[in-house]
Amino acid sequence: MTIRKVGVVGCGLMGSGIAESASRAGYEVLVREVSNEEIELGKQRIARSMDRAVEKGKMTAAEREEARKLLSYTAEISDLADRDLIVEAVVEDMDIKRDLFARLDALCPERTIFASNTSSLPITDMAAAVERPDRFLGIHFFNPVPIMKLVEIVRTIATSEETLATVLEFAQSLGKETVHAKDQAGFIVNLLLVPYMMDAVRQLERGAASMEDLDRAMSLGCGHPMGPISLIDFVGTDTACRIAEILYDEYREPRYSPPALLRRVVAMGRFGRKVGRGFYDYSGEVPVPLPV
Ligand code: 3HC
Repeated sequence: MTIRKVGVVGCGLMGSGIAESASRAGYEVLVREVSNEEIELGKQRIARSMDRAVEKGKMTAAEREEARKLLSYTAEISDLADRDLIVEAVVEDMDIKRDLFARLDALCPERTIFASNTSSLPITDMAAAVERPDRFLGIHFFNPVPIMKLVEIVRTIATSEETLATVLEFAQSLGKETVHAKDQAGFIVNLLLVPYMMDAVRQLERGAASMEDLDRAMSLGCGHPMGPISLIDFVGTDTACRIAEILYDEYREPRYSPPALLRRVVAMGRFGRKVGRGFYDYSGEVPVPLPV
C-alpha cells in the first residue's frame, strides 16, 4: 500500500516535527490540534523550524513554500477520515491515547494505518482499543524531528507484514534510518537514555558538580552534542519526568525513578526550553543556570 495522505494528531514538539518532516517529503499532511490557539502555536513552531532549515541551506525558499502548501490544520477529529496513515503524538497518557484511537477507528476506512509516536507506553495496549490491530504499530521519532535521523519501529504480535513494510517505507522516505524495537516501555533509546538523564540530576542533587560542569563534562568528554541537564530541558522536564515515571512503573528499578529535584523543577512549571525556563533560564543570549 502507498501512503499519500498523512494525519498527525497533536502539534507539540514532536507532532509539529513529524508534520514538518512529512510535508517536506511531499506528503499531504493534515494536523489535528484541540483548539485554534494550539493550532496557531503549532503553525508557528513549524514555520520557525522551516525558516531555520532555509537559513541553514537545508531547503530552498521554494521548497519551503511547497511544504507549506501541503500542510493543513483542523480542530475536528472527523476531518482525519480520509487519511492513509495517522500518527498520534499527544500527551503520554494511555487512557487519552486509547480513547483517541477508538474514535479514529470508528471514523476511518479499513485501509488507514494507525501509528503512535509514544516514547514509553506499550503499543499493544493501544492496539487492543481498535478493530484493526494488524494495522497498528509504534513509530517513535526523536526531537528535533527534522534533524534527528532515527525512527524506532515497534510492531506488536498483531501487526501485519504489509503494515510494517508500508510504514518502514514511509519512515525511509522521510530520510530516516529505522531500528526495530520490542514492544516494551522505553524501546531502545529511552531505555538507555532515561537512566543517564536521571543519574545526572541525582549527581546534581548530591553536589557532584554544577549543572554547567555536568553538561560541559559530558559534551566535551564524550562528544555529546549537549550535556544531560541541557538535554532534559530540551526534551522538556515534564516529559522527561513522565517518561521516567512510566519506565519506573514498568521495571521498578531505581535507575528509572525520577529524582525529587526533577519533580520540584516540574512542580514550579519550569518545563524546559519550550517555556523558556527549566534547569536553565533561556531568556537571554546564553542559558543561565536557575536555582536548584
Ligand atoms: N531542518 C533541517 N536541518 C536543520 C534544521 C531544520 N529545521 N535546523 C538545523 N538543521 C541542521 C543544521 O544545518 C546542522 O546540519 P549540519 O550538521 O549538516 O551543518 C544540524 O542540523 C545542527 O544544527 P545547528 O548547528 O543549528 O544546531 P546545533 O549544533 O546547535 O544542534 C541539536 C542542535 C541538533 C539539537 C543538537 O544539540 C543535538 O543533537 N542535541 C541532542 C538532541 C537529542 O539528543 N535528541 C534526542 C532527545 S530524546 C528524544 O527525543 C526521545 C523522546 O522520546 C524524549
